[in-house]
Amino acid sequence: PRTSTRAAEGALTVGGVDVRDLARDHGTPLYVLDEDDVRSRMRDYATAFADSDVHYAGKAFLCKEIVRWLRDEGLGLDVASGGELAVALSVGFPPGRITMHGNNKSAAELTRALEAGVGHIVVDSFEEIARLGYHAERLGKRPKVMVRVTTGVEAHTHEFIATAHDDQKFGLSLNSGAAAEAVRRILALPQLELVGLHSHIGSQIVDTAGFEVAARRLATLLVQIKDEHGVVLPELDLGGGYGVAYVDGDEAPDIKELADGLREIVTKVCVDAGLPVPRLTVEPGRTIVGPGGITLYEVGTVKDVEGLRTYVSIDGGMSDNVRTALYGAEYTAVLASRESQGRPMLSRLVGKHCESGDIIVRDCHLPADLAPGDLIAVAATGAYCRSLASNYNYLPRPAVVAVSRGESRVIVQGETEDDLLRGQL
Ligand code: LLP
Repeated sequence: PRTSTRAAEGALTVGGVDVRDLARDHGTPLYVLDEDDVRSRMRDYATAFADSDVHYAGKAFLCKEIVRWLRDEGLGLDVASGGELAVALSVGFPPGRITMHGNNKSAAELTRALEAGVGHIVVDSFEEIARLGYHAERLGKRPKVMVRVTTGVEAHTHEFIATAHDDQKFGLSLNSGAAAEAVRRILALPQLELVGLHSHIGSQIVDTAGFEVAARRLATLLVQIKDEHGVVLPELDLGGGYGVAYVDGDEAPDIKELADGLREIVTKVCVDAGLPVPRLTVEPGRTIVGPGGITLYEVGTVKDVEGLRTYVSIDGGMSDNVRTALYGAEYTAVLASRESQGRPMLSRLVGKHCESGDIIVRDCHLPADLAPGDLIAVAATGAYCRSLASNYNYLPRPAVVAVSRGESRVIVQGETEDDLLRGQL
C-alpha cells in the first residue's frame, strides 16, 4: 500500500497502524485494507476516465463498506450475481450505476435486477436474450442492454483468466457472427433497449496492446451495426483486467496512458466512419483494491528441509488466498513484526491445510532467525483473496479491517465456530 512504512523498531505500519497492534486487536490471519490507498485509486480512475464511466468490478472484493467508498467517490459498480447485487442494494447504492454480468444469470437474478432498475444488463447468450426479453415484458420494464462480445484477442495471462479467445464460455463471438446475430435478435425485441457492446479480454494483463485491439474491434462492430441496421449505439464497455505489481520487477500499466490510448482508438474509428463517439465504460477490479491490501499471518512452525529450503507455516493458507494454488500466482512476503539481521533463507510460505499445494509464496527469502510468533505480511492481497476465500478444513474466514490515519476498524467480521456450524442439521 502507498501508506505502508517501517516504524522505528522495525515493525511495519499500514495506514499509520503498527501491524503488531492489528494482530493484537483483531487476531490473525487478518486482511488489512488501506482505505486511503483504495480511495485514491478510485479517484485516479475517475480522473483518468473523466469523460467515461468507471464501474468497479465487485468480484475483486465486495462488502458494504467498499460500496460506500464507491458511492462517495462517484464510481459505478459491476455485479456478477444476485448476491453481489444484494450487497450493493443493502446500503442504498444507486441502481442506475450498477451493471449486471454473468454467463448464466438465473431467472431470479434477472428479475431482481429488473425490479431494482439496474443501469445495464450485459447479455451473454441467445437463451439469455430470450429469457431477459420474457422477464422484462412480464415486469413491464425496458432495461438497457449490452452484448458481451468475444473479440478473439489472445490475452497474455493465465489460461483460467483469459476470456476473449473463442474457445471459452463467455460472450458471443465476433468471428463467428454470433455477436452480430445477438444484435439482430435484441433489436427485434421492443422491450429491450440495446445501448452498446461489451468486451472483457481477461485479468492481470500488463501489456495494453490487447485492450487496444479489442477496443478497435468493438468500435468497428459499432460501425457495422450502423451500416446494417441504421442504428447508432451510444456506449462501449471495455471491461477490466489491468494488471498490478505483485513482486519486484512486475510492471503495471499507467492508467492515464491506458485511458488516453483507448479513447483515441475508439474516437478514430468512429469519426472516420461518421459516427458520434460513444460513451466509454471501464471495469477495473484488481487495480483498485489489490495493491492496498495485505494479509497478516502469524508464524507457527519453521521446518528446515535439509539442503532444500525452509518451510514456514502460517496460521492461514489456501482458504484465505487460493491464488497461488489456482493460478501459480506470485506474492511478496516479509517479516512484518520486527527487523532482522538474520541471513536470508530460501523459504516457502505455506498454510495449515491438508494438502501439499497449500502454498502462499512458492519461493521467497525470509530471515534465518524467523520464529513462531513472528508476523508475516503478504503484499497486494486486496483483490481476489477474501472474495475467493473458502472454509476448507473448517477454517473460519478471517476478518477484514480498514486502516486509515492511525486507526483500524473492522469492515467484515471474522467468522466464528458458530458461523461454521450454522445451518447444519
Ligand atoms: N469485468 C468483467 C466482465 C470481468 O469478468 C472481470 C473479471 C472484471 C471486469 C475485472 O477484472 P480485473 O480488473 O479485476 O482484472 N480470480 C482471478 C481473476 C478473475 C477475474 C474475473 N473477471 C484472479 O484471482 O486472478
